[in-house]
Amino acid sequence: MHILHVVGARPNLMKVAPVLGALKHYSNIKQSLVHTGQHYDTNMSDVFFQQLEIPAPDVNLGVGSGSHARQTAEIMTRFEPVVLERKPDMVLVYGDVNSTVAAALVCSKLLIQVGHVEAGLRSRDRTMPEEINRLVTDQLADILFTPSSDGDENLAREGVPSSKIHMVGNVMIDSLVRLLPAAIKKDLNGLPNRYVLVTLHRPANVDDDRTLKSILECLLDLNTQLKVVFPVHPRTRQRIADFGIDVAQLDLREPLPYIEFLALQRRATAVVTDSGGIQEETTFLKVPCLTLRSNTERPVTILQGTNILVGQNRDALRTELSKILDGKQKQGSIPPLWDGRAGERIAGILSKL
Ligand code: UD1
Repeated sequence: MHILHVVGARPNLMKVAPVLGALKHYSNIKQSLVHTGQHYDTNMSDVFFQQLEIPAPDVNLGVGSGSHARQTAEIMTRFEPVVLERKPDMVLVYGDVNSTVAAALVCSKLLIQVGHVEAGLRSRDRTMPEEINRLVTDQLADILFTPSSDGDENLAREGVPSSKIHMVGNVMIDSLVRLLPAAIKKDLNGLPNRYVLVTLHRPANVDDDRTLKSILECLLDLNTQLKVVFPVHPRTRQRIADFGIDVAQLDLREPLPYIEFLALQRRATAVVTDSGGIQEETTFLKVPCLTLRSNTERPVTILQGTNILVGQNRDALRTELSKILDGKQKQGSIPPLWDGRAGERIAGILSKL
């Protein structure tokens, strides 16, 4: 059987690595890897290939940035001939980025089986591009691998037959478990014992100047009490520059490699973020996470983990941070099957098809 994996954006890379690794043990499976080029900066892509030991892609479609329609269409146009030439038996897509939905659309029309890793997550917020990508991809997929039981419930509600759904656990946690020992060894280069780690890139938070300004003011205020370390996504850096907001007081950094970011996360007093994956990683690490969103497609991180939604409410952010500083942070536990073996489970299922 020939399995072709499609990745495009940074969060896909932590998810594909464990599946590629686990499938290597099956001699009846041939694998290939296509990178759409949705993310193309070295620090958004190449460094993750190195640290996660992902083999170089067989094909890079080099699509780059663009509007949603243009980026999705460009991926589809460039991916279709690759699929026609390579004739995989199954294409595996990951997460909820534009590359995921674009590849699923191409394959479903060519009658090539699609497997979706990290299926079933729902924020129920259709203003998020990722939610549209999740809904469409899950309708098209032939086999769906979910990270938690809410995923199974969402899919059942949308009419996906249970025979297609496999709860396998969280592949992102597989990568975390594997590289945590390397992260523990990292020197944090003079950072104080207590600091807040921030990431921000959702359009809802960074594309509107009033919202972005309000979040940054809150961080500047916080920084007077507690150091704020902020690796900045290229999209956010661009917006900060466009809006001319002065953030010189904050410890702004380039996007960090996986191991360096993990090292900062595990030692952080709190993480403030709007990322999906970081809500999961902090739950696993039992680090308090304050999410700058009013909903999440990962409710298990709230119900079981250390995550709290603070929306764009500055008062809520301040209140929750002061609780954490007083040692009264939310306690959490690790969801079932977030154990570093999700990739093995996926490989086991695929090898029997
Ligand atoms: C994408 C995903 C999002 C994911 C995020 C992780 C979609 C719809 N969104 O958002 O779910 O959480 O990746 O990072 O697929 N840019 C660069 N260099 C790069 C990549 C992007 O400078 O290597 C800049 C470009 O100006 C680009 C902007 O970032 O226009 C946005 O990139 P894009 O891939 O469109 O979406 P993300 O915001 O990264």
